[in-house]
Amino acid sequence: MAREFTSVGVVGLGTMGAGIVEVFARNGLDVVAVEISDAALERGRANLTGSTDRAVARGKLAEADRDALMSRVHFAVGLDALRSVDLVIEAVPEHLDLKQRIFAELDRVCKPEAILATNTSSLSVTEISVATTRPNQVIGIHFFNPAPVMKLVEVVRTVVTSSDVVDDVEALCARLGKVDVTISDRAGFIANALLFGYLNHAVTMFEARYASREDIDAAMKLGCGLPMGPLALMDLIGLDTAYEILDTMYRRGGRDRRHAPAPLIKQMVTAGLLGRKSGRGFYTYERPGSPKVVPDEHTPVAAEPALTDGARATAKVGVVGSGTMAIGIIEVFAKAGYEVVSVTRGAEKSAKVCEAVKTSLNKGVVRGKLSEADRDAALGRVTWSAALEHLADVDLVVEAVVEELSVKKALFASLDEICKPGVVLATTTSSLPVIDVAMATQRPADVLGLHFFNPAPIMPLVEIVRTIRTSGEATATARAVCARLGKTSVVCGDRSGFIVNALLFPYLNDAVRMLEANYSTADDIDHAMKLGCGYPMGPFELLDVVGLDVALAIQRELYLELREPGFAPAPLLEHLVTAGYLGRKSGRGFRDHTSR
Ligand SMILES: NC(=O)c1ccc[n+]([C@@H]2O[C@H](COP(=O)([O-])OP(=O)(O)OC[C@H]3O[C@@H](n4cnc5c(N)ncnc54)[C@H](O)[C@@H]3O)[C@@H](O)[C@H]2O)c1
Repeated sequence: MAREFTSVGVVGLGTMGAGIVEVFARNGLDVVAVEISDAALERGRANLTGSTDRAVARGKLAEADRDALMSRVHFAVGLDALRSVDLVIEAVPEHLDLKQRIFAELDRVCKPEAILATNTSSLSVTEISVATTRPNQVIGIHFFNPAPVMKLVEVVRTVVTSSDVVDDVEALCARLGKVDVTISDRAGFIANALLFGYLNHAVTMFEARYASREDIDAAMKLGCGLPMGPLALMDLIGLDTAYEILDTMYRRGGRDRRHAPAPLIKQMVTAGLLGRKSGRGFYTYERPGSPKVVPDEHTPVAAEPALTDGARATAKVGVVGSGTMAIGIIEVFAKAGYEVVSVTRGAEKSAKVCEAVKTSLNKGVVRGKLSEADRDAALGRVTWSAALEHLADVDLVVEAVVEELSVKKALFASLDEICKPGVVLATTTSSLPVIDVAMATQRPADVLGLHFFNPAPIMPLVEIVRTIRTSGEATATARAVCARLGKTSVVCGDRSGFIVNALLFPYLNDAVRMLEANYSTADDIDHAMKLGCGYPMGPFELLDVVGLDVALAIQRELYLELREPGFAPAPLLEHLVTAGYLGRKSGRGFRDHTSR
């Protein structure tokens, strides 16, 4: 018969524990909330009241419900208070010996039929379970941060967990309004195994001054639609906890160098910069525990560069190319009031590009986003040409031709001869080294990357790629132009994948490897990332949209440039591409799209 859970215990009321108490108490369970000392108990109580008070202030919880919730929580110091609960979930710091000690003690204190659960993110549930005399009643219940908000729970069964315990815990998750995925005991389970390599990589980028904290975070939010940037997420998780998780994953997960914690994390932990909980991590917060970021000495002073920063006046822009990106970019510039010269390789192509821009602008009119007059004015600002010579008097050129280095180099050599001095020459390449293109000209200081995202009229982000030869003036000009286009620009160095693709594609590749290893299904992995981390799409949904061939090409470039063994393309990805399963565009990728 299924167990009835009426009262549960939570051990440790830090970032996760306090949230877990809230989840249980909100759903009508009595909770015994346990800490190690009176002072820690008070902090835990403050975590809980802070969170429920915020929920009341935001209108998400009625005051009476908050009071009822709080009345269901009994606070205590020491594990003895857990004698009569039906289930205990432990959320103390991520140390195996500490957790084993607590489980041995819980085994002694709790009634024989009680289920003992751990919220560990990366430690072996099996190793924790053998500290008790009831390993068949030990299970992982991995909540996501913030526990009251995130829908996902990973239920971790070991080889000895009884199936009735798994069933009862799954039923409990449903009662809590959570979606569970049940998996076996592997370091990082699904979500953290895919998340922490990415987070560590983002810290490494910041540590190497490849880009600023604001730019790394903005890039992932605006380029991928993630709810938070990686550095803000590190602050939410807690740098001490993140360090322990990475360290455990490194040791348990095959010593993948990508999980070896970036040295900066350890330094920050030692310095007491633990993230939100200590009031300072990558960002500075109003006070410890507050989610509100306040400016500090690293906050950029002016959001938009002015002409005084060396930005050159830009009024007329050339766009070279006739593909999807060129078409979108022409529209973006024309709508923002720039005079645009579109150059293609022939009158026929120009007519097609013109038609495509018209169609897209018309869609804007139909959707009520653009007036007819503005559409006509935008179109009136574009000149259609098949001769590069027409770029002689533009102030900026944006190249968006085929992704082949030889073609781009030849084009830049021609632009160098045709364009007037002082013009910024930009390439939209997503994978080629910008410096190679720059060195095809006699003016590498004026060459940079302007990496727009597809569809350009919609995606709010542009990566400005600065080579080792790019001048400050050229960068300032690009930033000023992006601001006038209404885009958020982030500045980064000339490395394969820039910010977004370098952080995104290895994660997608890791998801393919996880599927290949049969650890979980595509559906559960997609669910885990959407419901556990708030991603707008799961990795397999996204791969099918992006195109598996595109993903493979980017992943190959990253691997070739960085020689990181963990970046080697997953064999399954290679096989699917060879088999012609390219995603939505070919009707089949990880999923079959023909019948939908
Ligand atoms: N932070 C996250 O985003 C996150 C997400 C999911 C899971 N987890 C996991 O949850 C667990 C807790 O992480 P956290 O981030 O909440 O840590 P935390 O440092 O914020 O909180 C840990 C709490 O445990 C208390 N504690 C320590 N020893 C104790 C003992 N002997 N008895 C009772 N309480 C004790 C501490 O006083 C502290 O309040 C870890 O296993 C972590 O991996 C964390």
